[in-house]
Amino acid sequence: MLCKPIEKAVNEQIKNELYSSYLYLSMSSWLSAHDFKGMANWMRIQAKEEDLHAMKMYDYVLDHGNRVELKALDQPPSEFKSPLDIFEQAYRHELKVTRMIHDLVALAREHKDPATEVFLNWFVTEQVEEEASADNVVQQLKLVGDKGNGLLMLDRLLQQRVFTPPATGGAA
Ligand code: FEO
Repeated sequence: MLCKPIEKAVNEQIKNELYSSYLYLSMSSWLSAHDFKGMANWMRIQAKEEDLHAMKMYDYVLDHGNRVELKALDQPPSEFKSPLDIFEQAYRHELKVTRMIHDLVALAREHKDPATEVFLNWFVTEQVEEEASADNVVQQLKLVGDKGNGLLMLDRLLQQRVFTPPATGGAA
């Protein structure tokens, strides 16, 4: 059984992961509407990954005989300036999520909960990858500029991203 503060904090993070999914889906929708189909695909897959993060935490709470309590999600932004604006916002969002995960680790330590700390290790590592993949697209967008052939080619490249659930992404 998880102690109450940990149960509450993991439930809060389930909401944060679901919000990430909602945010990326909103970004995907803007990109689709502006004919950046490859980037829309990239963001849609990113949204799917966030669902997986949320469900991994969801299962962790249930596995301990605790309660999952779903919270209201904020409305994500729906208007953006450009693909670069979108990926910069996504990168900044990932930095925020990393801080949330690190705070959770600190809380698990404070409450002497090594199982939760070990569970969160997966997310600590995942965040390194999450930050890097968003930043990678930001850097590429900066290189090619926000219009022209380069942008079209980058869009085609991002079309190739496919959803591959991580090996440890199933049961917690
Ligand atoms: Fe669930 Fe993108 O971090």
